[in-house]
Amino acid sequence: MKTLWQLNVVIAKANTEAFCDWVRAEWAIEPVAMERPHGDHAVVNMYFDSRSVAHARQRAAAGFDGLISAHVLPCHEKEWTTFWRHHFRVLDIGRRLRIVPIWEKAPDRKRLNLKIDPGLSFGTGDHFTTRFCLEALEAACDAIRPKSMLDAGTGSGILAIAAAKLGVPRIAAFDNDPVCVKQSRKNAILNRLGAKRIRFFEADVLAHGWETPAADIVCANILTPILIQAAPALWRATRRQLMLTGIRETEGDSVAQAFHELGAREILRDGDGEWCGLVFARRN
Ligand SMILES: C[S@@+](CC[C@H](N)C(=O)[O-])C[C@H]1O[C@@H](n2cnc3c(N)ncnc32)[C@H](O)[C@@H]1O
Repeated sequence: MKTLWQLNVVIAKANTEAFCDWVRAEWAIEPVAMERPHGDHAVVNMYFDSRSVAHARQRAAAGFDGLISAHVLPCHEKEWTTFWRHHFRVLDIGRRLRIVPIWEKAPDRKRLNLKIDPGLSFGTGDHFTTRFCLEALEAACDAIRPKSMLDAGTGSGILAIAAAKLGVPRIAAFDNDPVCVKQSRKNAILNRLGAKRIRFFEADVLAHGWETPAADIVCANILTPILIQAAPALWRATRRQLMLTGIRETEGDSVAQAFHELGAREILRDGDGEWCGLVFARRN
């Protein structure tokens, strides 16, 4: 059985949320936090498939406010899956989509069931940012019937797979993390999408080449500094609508400004008090 590496962090309860946000933002993974109702600290577990990466993350976490301890431990794949089972459940999104973790059975076929094995990647649908993109994607599919979609920073492949289920004919998706590209391909197969249905590839949104051919819809759930730096390429890649998230509420205006300067028209903004999502359209 494969061994994963668990970074086990004990942290003051008051700092847990800030720490989990930081992990999501910096490492693009979903931490698993556990608190005892009457205790004053929490345990946060994160999983990596390389021991050296786990140790590098341990060093990076060392100065975090409220940190009590951080240890790297070997973890069998089965234990890790058990953790996920407590945190990732069947979830209805929008009018037609439903996320179904690999270990659950879809309750019926009244919705488009997206089978997802999160692996070590981000994108289970229970985070505001993923949900925002899924809802915006569904709305765009109804309103403008896109012929193509490009998913920048695909993670588990969830947005690209949703686009396929919603009937978008041509889909491409990339990530700069090869583990995510591999996981996305596995998830596409899990959803009975043929190998050629979605073109998955490894690329850095900050490098050149990925932005052609342009797509009717582009989604990017990446962090604000990257979105701003990649703004010209993201906008060049967009024929009709661009969906952006991974943005803190406090950063919404600066991301919007970067795209307004390129001529983008903001058509939707939503947030949960912490994260925010934006949709831009090409002016007709
Ligand atoms: C927050 S996750 C989003 C995953 C999925 N698209 C979703 O909406 O749930 C961000 C993803 O972007 C990827 N990423 C981060 N920086 C990137 C870059 N410079 N180029 C390409 N992908 C990047 C990460 O590896 C991660 O899988």
